[in-house]
Amino acid sequence: MKTKIFKDYEELSTNTANEILAVVQSNPMAMLCLASGDTPRLAYMLAAKRAKEGNIDFSRCTFVALDEWMGIPPANEGSCQFFLRRYLFDPLNIPERNINFFNAVSSDPDEECKKMNDVIARKGGIDLMIVGIGMNGHIGFNEPGQAFDQYAHVVDLDETSRTVAQKYFRESTQLSKGLTLGLRHMLEAKKVLLIASGLKKAEIIEKTMGEEISPKIPSTSIRNHPNGYVMLDKEAASLLSAKSM
Ligand code: GLP
Repeated sequence: MKTKIFKDYEELSTNTANEILAVVQSNPMAMLCLASGDTPRLAYMLAAKRAKEGNIDFSRCTFVALDEWMGIPPANEGSCQFFLRRYLFDPLNIPERNINFFNAVSSDPDEECKKMNDVIARKGGIDLMIVGIGMNGHIGFNEPGQAFDQYAHVVDLDETSRTVAQKYFRESTQLSKGLTLGLRHMLEAKKVLLIASGLKKAEIIEKTMGEEISPKIPSTSIRNHPNGYVMLDKEAASLLSAKSM
């Protein structure tokens, strides 16, 4: 794992967009797994804009969503699906057959997880995975305590995640479970970028880099990835000491 620190959110986002474009240019049939959330928004907007300007063809890539709020339909603006469609898939006109989401309103969530596992396995794994980090160190919805060797699964959301997540919704929303790819998907991905921005993430980034690698802080798992990058702006990196980078 390597750490990269950028001047600010804009520079972090530009470099994240560069990584997305580079993977697609070198492998037009790549499988990408993308997080939703505030952090990657600008990177996706920039990637979509530059792909259009430079005629970079995303039409043969496969996309797999990282996670979803159980019970929240895709038309809800707070859903991960709504976010990815708005900022990336719609602007790029990605064919529907190449997009894989968890169906959050399915009566059989375990089957949804199996479906995602199968899609990823059939493609031979994820080429590029972009993840954010929760205030409690979650990756996707792998909350503290989740084992590193799991594939997709259903999770009981932490109090922290349920509270912080209200920022995505117009109205106060009852959230209790999530569907998520597992940390094993991340550890098996060919390349992973964990991106974080702002002072509010500085403390969990310090723990991610400095504390023992353990499910207590799921984000520490990225330190086991040989091609993992923790990409930060200066604020998110502000509590890191030279020795933990
Ligand atoms: C959310 C999502 C994650 C996301 C993380 C950070 O709850 N489940 O996939 O990466 O928390 O979100 P943000 O970028 O908004 O801080």
